[in-house]
Amino acid sequence: MKNIQRFLMILATVVFVSCGDEKKEQETITIGEEGTVERTTTTNTTARDTAGTTAEGTTRQKGVVQVNLTGNDQMQFNLKEIRVKAGETVRLTLKHVGQLPENAMGHNFVLLRKGTDVVDFATKAASASQNEYIPEGAEQVIVHTEMIGGGEETSIEFTAPEAGTYDFICSFPGHYIQMQGKFIVE
Ligand code: CO
Repeated sequence: MKNIQRFLMILATVVFVSCGDEKKEQETITIGEEGTVERTTTTNTTARDTAGTTAEGTTRQKGVVQVNLTGNDQMQFNLKEIRVKAGETVRLTLKHVGQLPENAMGHNFVLLRKGTDVVDFATKAASASQNEYIPEGAEQVIVHTEMIGGGEETSIEFTAPEAGTYDFICSFPGHYIQMQGKFIVE
């Protein structure tokens, strides 16, 4: 019973902490002798950082823009729009957060040249199964990742092309209908 009371007391203090009261944060540490409260404090800080950097799915560090793209088992990318600056180095990480294998729910990131007919390209890509659904010698492709399945992750690095709006898709057969977005270079 005494333990429960202590637990409730700690919870109440944590609520104050999340309201941003620095002094309460100190008091909390004094009460929580088993490290639980300290861990909570750390989590709060992390949550704030994450909220600040993932709004657009991109972060910038030392002149490199990191784009974090995910694909899931529902045939969806997490980003509908990616914004970068012309000439900067883009590091794009594609993570398949689903569980289905590559042959059933494969995902890649394919960046297409301006003016590419997406449907026309995706139709050609659909028959290039022997080449991870990238048509041989396709001039419409600026850059692409490998095709991955559930739980896998892949990264590519490239220089952002000239300013403009480009389409990106997943070229696995049929996926482009849902899995496409705008790659905007400013
Ligand atoms: Co896909």
